[in-house]
Amino acid sequence: MYIVDRTLTFVRGFIMSYGPSGIKKKLWDKEFSSSKWDFIDNTAGDCVYPYLEKYAHNGNILDLGCGPGNTANELAANVYQSYIGVDISEAALAKAVRRSQENGRGQQNSFVNSDFLGYKPTQEFDIILFRESMYHVPYGQVIPILEKYAKHLKPGGVFIVRLYAGDHRPGVIKTRVTAKLDLLKREFDIVESRQFDLPAMPNVVVFRPRSKS
Ligand SMILES: C[S@@+](CC[C@H](N)C(=O)[O-])C[C@H]1O[C@@H](n2cnc3c(N)ncnc32)[C@H](O)[C@@H]1O
Repeated sequence: MYIVDRTLTFVRGFIMSYGPSGIKKKLWDKEFSSSKWDFIDNTAGDCVYPYLEKYAHNGNILDLGCGPGNTANELAANVYQSYIGVDISEAALAKAVRRSQENGRGQQNSFVNSDFLGYKPTQEFDIILFRESMYHVPYGQVIPILEKYAKHLKPGGVFIVRLYAGDHRPGVIKTRVTAKLDLLKREFDIVESRQFDLPAMPNVVVFRPRSKS
């Protein structure tokens, strides 16, 4: 039974990263229509917020894989002007829209239902965030996707990536995640990078495209 469960989890995870958008959407909608992800409704105090507050410069934020509106509503409202959250799950976005309206952020926050691998922004941003969503960018697409989005960073703008390097089992390192973190550190100008001494070892990396000298 254990092997069957592990195999199904692996196949599901594979489809959620490499599958066609329509199938990924169905899988994510099913997850957000259940209570599976309710635990991310309240992530106030998360280690990513000081970085968002530092680099937002009262400007514009693009959140790729934004989920149910936790970042959009927990981030201090007075540190940014506008926020666009992109997510493949309509069910997650329905929560995000409702929560933003209830919080009086209906004008400040907006949401787009799209696969971030194909999404085309129409403006420039101070921050482009992948918070717990870069797991779902296939390794071979990390650089092309970031190069595409880099064209939508303002001068001085930054990417911020938050990822867990471990999981709930103490001492376990997720090698596919650390490979992505290493790739970012090799290919971009790192502004700040920290692994937090917290359960599952969250990492926050702030970076920019390499300056051309
Ligand atoms: C682990 S949740 C993280 C949610 C939120 N950013 C947070 O940190 O709490 C991953 C999110 O990425 C979204 N996602 C996964 N693959 C995606 C894709 N290809 N395009 C857009 N969103 C995607 C999921 O629907 C989900 O909301």
